[in-house]
Amino acid sequence: MILKDKVALVTGVVNERSIAYAIAKQFKDQGATVILSYQEGLKDRVEKIGAELGITDLYAVDATQEDQVVSMFQDIDKKYNGIDTVVHAIAFAKKEELTGGITDSTSEGFLLAQQISAYTLITLAKYAAPLMEKKGGGSIQALTYIGSTRPMPNYNAMGVAKASLESIVRYLAFELGPQNIRVNSISPGPINTLAARGIAGFKDMYKGAVASQVLKRNLTTEDVAGTAVFLASDLSAMVSGMIMFVDGGFHCGTSFTNES
Ligand SMILES: NC(=O)c1ccc[n+]([C@@H]2O[C@H](COP(=O)([O-])OP(=O)(O)OC[C@H]3O[C@@H](n4cnc5c(N)ncnc54)[C@H](O)[C@@H]3O)[C@@H](O)[C@H]2O)c1
Repeated sequence: MILKDKVALVTGVVNERSIAYAIAKQFKDQGATVILSYQEGLKDRVEKIGAELGITDLYAVDATQEDQVVSMFQDIDKKYNGIDTVVHAIAFAKKEELTGGITDSTSEGFLLAQQISAYTLITLAKYAAPLMEKKGGGSIQALTYIGSTRPMPNYNAMGVAKASLESIVRYLAFELGPQNIRVNSISPGPINTLAARGIAGFKDMYKGAVASQVLKRNLTTEDVAGTAVFLASDLSAMVSGMIMFVDGGFHCGTSFTNES
């Protein structure tokens, strides 16, 4: 139970396929008190998930609405007198941005992807940090994707948003390090979730990634959650500003097969 006595907020649960779902489950299994935040309109679904996982603190929060983020953290602070971990598992781009090329991007769609998928990490960190200070430090994690640095078909504006997100992680790590707040990102390979299915040609992206992994089995949300547990725990006490790849070694970037 390496997260015993830790209080963790996990954002971005929409269903059992969500990476956030597996993270919340493994956090619970490791003894953490888990709080879920979810997008407006998902109340019934998330209440069901909460009941299944034994999580009762549920907040409907649109991460782009600063007042909602503020009031959630005020409430959490009243209840728990601080927080140890925040997981940012939030991303969105319009379907039209996730097809064709980057020149098909619209200014409005591009900015929306940036606002929801990258800027919201700043908002969450800004209001979580004072609560983490009360605990003598904390861990903030965000979910990114290698499309930030390598062009992937149809990923376009989301790839640029992930590049922003990774840069924000490093700036936050720099700013919050003196308060013993660690900020990292996890970069999983493709997994069949609701958000991923919005990317045109996701199935090909998925097949291509598995074929180019050095490890030869499909990645699961549980694999990602294992790394999230490590980053939330004291085992990663001196790890900050990192991108932790959980992609079966895809990031090695070899174009050779290691199969005999
Ligand atoms: N599935 C993959 O292949 C993959 C790979 C690498 C990284 N990721 C990242 O993992 C994270 C979680 O995505 P997922 O794949 O589990 O899909 P998902 O669809 O289960 O989760 C995405 C979440 O973002 C939430 N969200 C969107 N806009 C929001 C807003 N304004 N306010 C609050 N919440 C909002 C949605 O409600 C949803 O819960 C995302 O950052 C995604 O980019 C996913």
